[in-house]
Amino acid sequence: MLRYLTAGESHGPALTTIVEGFPSGVTLDAEFINFELKRRQGGYGRGKRQTLETDRIIVESGTYHNVTTGGPITIRLVNNDAKLERLQEPSSPRGGHIDLAGSINYQTGIRQVLERASARETALRVAVGALARVLLRELDIHVFGYVSELGGIAAPPLSFDQAVRDASPVYTLNPEADAKIVAAIDAAKETGDTLGGIMEAIVTGCPIGLGSHAQWDRKLDARLALAVMSIQAVKGVEIGLGIEAAKRPGSKVMDPIRYEPSDPNDRRFGFRRPTNNAGGIEGGTSNGEPIVVRASKKPISTLANRGPSVNMITKEASPAAYERSDVCAVPAASVIVENVVAFEIASAIVEKYVGTSVSAIKAAMAAMHELNREHLATAYRNEKLPT
Ligand SMILES: Cc1cc2nc3c(=O)[nH]c(=O)nc-3n(C[C@H](O)[C@H](O)[C@H](O)COP(=O)(O)O)c2cc1C
Repeated sequence: MLRYLTAGESHGPALTTIVEGFPSGVTLDAEFINFELKRRQGGYGRGKRQTLETDRIIVESGTYHNVTTGGPITIRLVNNDAKLERLQEPSSPRGGHIDLAGSINYQTGIRQVLERASARETALRVAVGALARVLLRELDIHVFGYVSELGGIAAPPLSFDQAVRDASPVYTLNPEADAKIVAAIDAAKETGDTLGGIMEAIVTGCPIGLGSHAQWDRKLDARLALAVMSIQAVKGVEIGLGIEAAKRPGSKVMDPIRYEPSDPNDRRFGFRRPTNNAGGIEGGTSNGEPIVVRASKKPISTLANRGPSVNMITKEASPAAYERSDVCAVPAASVIVENVVAFEIASAIVEKYVGTSVSAIKAAMAAMHELNREHLATAYRNEKLPT
């Protein structure tokens, strides 16, 4: 079982994660992981905090000469802006934040809960997701994330070119929409407001059979939804057509199945779907088509204009506290979605192929592929199978 926990406060000395169950034999690509961390820090509309931090992983266990050992991997990120003990207790909770409910839930002040609830924690989730992607790359499985809408401005992909996304100030695949989006972020900043948006992640190369239809908590779509919904400020998660499917008749939703003889290594065994409305998952199981996960992020709740709130001592009306804040973090959220999805896929892989080492996973994947080829060649001619 591949899993991780995170620890650390937004302005504490450091953030730490322990990744457990990661296979041995993977060369740790710190440059790639740090590149993803840098992308999470970027995107037009972020606040001053990102200019203070230089997120780079420190690996404290689980590798030997930079190759994973199978032991727990400890990753630490230092907070340059470590000042927790010097920060004041906010007097008026911010709506849209943990401030009020958390201080009641834990019988603490607001500071204690907001520091842990902060999206600073997502730096670790990007780090572990990027670590998982190093494993996935070895298996020829790839994950790609981008922004498809921001502040109500649609940015449908014009291509799936990573260079286009990486050149976009807001991580879209639509250079025509970028200028409009940047102007909308500027306008929101001007009026003390904030913007949300929609992020998508696509996984290609997944073998058929990750997840299972057989039990609710083994369904791959459910696991992805849990992981993505747990990202700070994400309020909706869809697979494939998602909510749009409810508006269409079945004939415009169901993906037809076709067959054409293919290469013996074809992970889809020659079965093709000209459409992918299911987003690569049917019955909780990957079907070999690209897995498409879409998530919506609400606008940042901390407003420069400070929304209405209540003073916790006097209980009188008082403007909400202001914490230094982003105007828009949708580009960063697309990096988080991408890497969180990657981790769940890697976790499903490790579970299915019982992988203590990367070579064991490769061998199990190859053996399972052959077993399925044999099954497809023989099973439907077997008289024992009812037709
Ligand atoms: C990358 C990223 C950056 C964020 N930055 C801020 C921020 O600067 N200010 C803020 O108020 N909320 C920010 N948020 C959102 C809050 O962390 C989140 O709304 C809050 O913890 C409450 O959780 P909830 O919205 O999931 O209920 C950010 C979220 C993400 C994903």
